[in-house]
Amino acid sequence: MRRIAVLCSGGDCPGMNACIKAIVDACDSNNIDLIGINRGYQGLIENDVRPLEKIDVANIETIAGTIIKTSRSPEFMTEKGFRKAIDNLKLNEIEGLIVIGGNGSFRGARDLVNAGVNVIGIPGTIDNDLFYTERSLGFDTAVQQAVNTVTDIKQTMYANDRAVVFKCMGRHCGDIALHTAVAVEADSLAVNEIEYSIPQIIEDVRNSMSHGVKAPVVMMSEGCKIDMDEIVYELQSQLHIVARGIELGYIQRGGVPTYYDRMLGVRWGVLAVQLLMQDMTNLAVGVKNDKIFSTPLVEVEHVLQEFRVDMVNDLRTLHALPKI
Ligand code: F6P
Repeated sequence: MRRIAVLCSGGDCPGMNACIKAIVDACDSNNIDLIGINRGYQGLIENDVRPLEKIDVANIETIAGTIIKTSRSPEFMTEKGFRKAIDNLKLNEIEGLIVIGGNGSFRGARDLVNAGVNVIGIPGTIDNDLFYTERSLGFDTAVQQAVNTVTDIKQTMYANDRAVVFKCMGRHCGDIALHTAVAVEADSLAVNEIEYSIPQIIEDVRNSMSHGVKAPVVMMSEGCKIDMDEIVYELQSQLHIVARGIELGYIQRGGVPTYYDRMLGVRWGVLAVQLLMQDMTNLAVGVKNDKIFSTPLVEVEHVLQEFRVDMVNDLRTLHALPKI
């Protein structure tokens, strides 16, 4: 293939720019024309495209977000919108398309594959909820951001002997909350992948307080069925401690990409170009045990989550709580 395109779709994530830069550099070195599609599938529908060249990507690897922007496009899910998208790929003589995004974006990518478009999917989401790959782009930075923010906030909570409940992003996936909880030694963890309840959280925190913890931390994921404010209320009324609830929010998406996310972005960007150069398409790239791989795009949706119960148990052992 001599003419390919790249787009980002869904929630942006740190590392997308590093990945785009690697794609541009690899295309430039191999004399491949690269088209950047702005604003994801919506931009494709509106034919909002531009050539991407080395000058466009100088130094972008150090910043979060994506220079070609992203969007969630309801129109792409309509017959008419989808048709327009396909027509614009033809109009621009695109032979292969690289899609960087999460679950929704991969669904769109599979629809394109079924319509005969040559696609490579790169998992780009802080949520880490594409389970065929150990990591998705942006997860490492999101956790680092969460850990840094929690660490800072803990200082003031500790000065006031206050409890704090942190809510992490991740949609239905508890990975950001889990990894952050272990790194900061949270006293209780509420994620959908394990059983949790308000009485259990209260008992976990009571246990830590009985061991002298003055500023206990509860970590929860945004997909949790219980309300953060309810946990705060129960902590205050049952344990007689002042408590606060903090949603970590977009700080998790906006951080300077870690070396790991940059490295993943570069490796996957290069792999995607290599695959398209060899006319190998309809693949999703991933990483396992530090090795990058590609696998059929249409199959990855069936891979089930392997939640890290061992990490939950590390945390519980730390607080002498029974393992699950
Ligand atoms: O998928 C990434 C993510 O940041 C989720 O963790 C979160 O639920 C969602 O996107 C927020 O989406 P939006 O940017 O549309 O508010």
